[in-house]
Amino acid sequence: MKRFLIAGNWKMNKTTAQAVHYVHELKAQKLTNPESVAIIAPFTQLEALKKELEGTGISLGAQNVHYEHSGAFTGEISVDMLKEIGVDYCVVGHSERREYFNETDETVNRKLKVLLEEGITPILCVGESLEVREKKQEQAFVCGQLGEAFAGIPQEYAEKVVIAYEPIWAIGTGHTATPEQAEEMCAFIRGMMQGLYDMSIGDKLIIQYGGSMKPGNAKELLEKTDINGGLIGGASLKVKDFAEIAKTAA
Ligand code: G3P
Repeated sequence: MKRFLIAGNWKMNKTTAQAVHYVHELKAQKLTNPESVAIIAPFTQLEALKKELEGTGISLGAQNVHYEHSGAFTGEISVDMLKEIGVDYCVVGHSERREYFNETDETVNRKLKVLLEEGITPILCVGESLEVREKKQEQAFVCGQLGEAFAGIPQEYAEKVVIAYEPIWAIGTGHTATPEQAEEMCAFIRGMMQGLYDMSIGDKLIIQYGGSMKPGNAKELLEKTDINGGLIGGASLKVKDFAEIAKTAA
């Protein structure tokens, strides 16, 4: 049975009232595969969303976490705070955090460890810039990101991590990777992980594609063997679009 995850990354959008209303509308969509769906929301909405999602089967995730349990890190959120709310997932290493907030492969590695130790499933984002792609260096680049991200992490933890291949040049641009490009990189990532660990990890990993996935292109992408779902930004903000993509994966 192919494991799947369709996650909507709302980024910095919605108020808590709007988020609660969204869930009411999403419930009305009668998803047939809620266990394969997650909402990744801003910190301020998580507690209210946890309550709203109770009994729906739909999972909840955060968009970031600090790698320390506590300390003088103004504005940051700890894994203990996320655990108390009861989130299921946490995105780590999103290209926007790497670009605007000094996220590095080293901090990504520390965040993966603290999340896995506390039982929250990371969604690890990797992916190359247009410049790297144009130099045909995307595999070498992503290989480096994976090696650093998983340094010192044993297989029984690593196989729990959801990996999202998000080519930076496709995020928010409408220039979606072709199904062939996305499949090639997701298959490469799976192979890399089998090389870092052992062959058995291949069937356990969920590898998502992210980068302008829309209702119009989701089917072609999600049909690919090595694409086990999507990490969706813009299209997840509209309930109907997000539900249509989720139903495509059913
Ligand atoms: O994390 C998912 C996001 O980066 C993709 O955004 O708007 O291209 O679907 P979008």
